[in-house]
Amino acid sequence: MDIEIFSKIDNYISSLLAPEDKALSDTIRSLDTEGLTQHSVSANQGKFLQVMMIACNARRVLELGTLGGYSTIWLARALPENGKIITIEVDEHHAKVARKNIENAHLSPKIELKIGKALDILPVLIADKEEPFDMIFIDADKPPYVEYFNYVLELARPGTLIICDNVIREGKVLDENSTDEKVRGVQRLNEMLSQNKKVTATILQTVGVKEFDGMVIAVVNRI
Ligand SMILES: C[S@@+](CC[C@H](N)C(=O)[O-])C[C@H]1O[C@@H](n2cnc3c(N)ncnc32)[C@H](O)[C@@H]1O
Repeated sequence: MDIEIFSKIDNYISSLLAPEDKALSDTIRSLDTEGLTQHSVSANQGKFLQVMMIACNARRVLELGTLGGYSTIWLARALPENGKIITIEVDEHHAKVARKNIENAHLSPKIELKIGKALDILPVLIADKEEPFDMIFIDADKPPYVEYFNYVLELARPGTLIICDNVIREGKVLDENSTDEKVRGVQRLNEMLSQNKKVTATILQTVGVKEFDGMVIAVVNRI
């Protein structure tokens, strides 16, 4: 099958159901002008995150990996009036670009951007007894995905939805001998989830304007 069809269909869907307004297209443009890589979720994936948020009535959202704020803007737009997002970004330049894009989208009051390594900030959120999050989106560096998942479980409650992006990596997860640390990181996560009794999880393959990949969709069990 001609894989260009996936991009064409993605554009068809997003033109109907996930059109970008100026704040979102400005954000995508800012990645090029500011020298950031085009690693944001697609428009359809942004809309998918919104649908998931509304389905689980999310008022508090945690995101790991902000980049230029594109997914953060989609997420924030699905929050209720009293909703809040904490988003964590290690790169100060990315964070600066994201702040500008978030301001441009008039969403600053709803978004707390924390700068630092997620592995340093997550234990602080836990120690501070942060109120549990309703939805958590993991989209930072891939090698510590298992550690991120285990930390965020401590910031969750039964029913919290946890979504982890880029866990199929164009099918490279099938290579048991892979030495790519990103592939190794998501393989570790996917295998850990197969044994984890705290969540009910699956992986959705994703195709479209982004490379062929997949997202973990996990919900914390009511024990
Ligand atoms: C795939 S991009 C995030 C894309 C963003 N969620 C979106 O869809 O618009 C990954 C981001 O994670 C950040 N990152 C990498 N390692 C990190 C770490 N240890 N802690 C926090 N953020 C990290 C990168 O700097 C990059 O901006």
